Amino acid sequence: MNTHSTGAQTHVYVTHSSEETIALGRELALLLAPPKMLVLRGDLGAGKTTLVKGIAAALGAAEPEEITSPTFTLIHEYEGQLPASDAQPSAQAVRLYHIDVYRLESQRQLDTLGMEEFLIPDSIVLVEWGEKFPWIVAHSHGEISIHALHGEERKITLSLH
Ligand SMILES: Nc1ncnc2c1ncn2[C@@H]1O[C@H](COP(=O)(O)OP(=O)(O)O)[C@@H](O)[C@H]1O
Ligand SMILES: [Mg+2]
Repeated sequence: MNTHSTGAQTHVYVTHSSEETIALGRELALLLAPPKMLVLRGDLGAGKTTLVKGIAAALGAAEPEEITSPTFTLIHEYEGQLPASDAQPSAQAVRLYHIDVYRLESQRQLDTLGMEEFLIPDSIVLVEWGEKFPWIVAHSHGEISIHALHGEERKITLSLH
């Protein structure tokens, strides 16, 4: 939507199907130069995991059907590459961490994930329900929020600090 002189950015999109959300994820991946940790915010069924399918596909990290919810496994790790772009003249190796902290209730439980080890220069860390934990918000570079509108419409907002 706009870019402020502070370097903060907000981009707002509307999708009309899960396929469009996956396609948007492919585009958004190009804006996520590592290191990045982002909170994925939105109700159950909003489309957080669906968006990750597109991000992972853009990175060559996994096919969309290989991306499943880490609700029970908590962390899924993939290896991929951020393709070359205007901002980034050569491809860059990326570790993609897809995390879901929905089932975690305390900072002590979160500590057992050892998330600080994922905050490495070549990582993109996407945390569903990350807004539950101040530690995650404090270490994040922003968030992607997804709101269900009517039917299959979703409003998707990427905010980078
Ligand atoms: N525009 C859309 N974007 C994403 N998912 C959509 C959309 N319209 C319908 N859906 C459906 O909503 C559900 C989203 O599920 P999922 O991505 O697992 O959500 P979350 O991870 O936020 O709980 C899927 O069943 C998907 O097919
Ligand atoms: Mg999910």
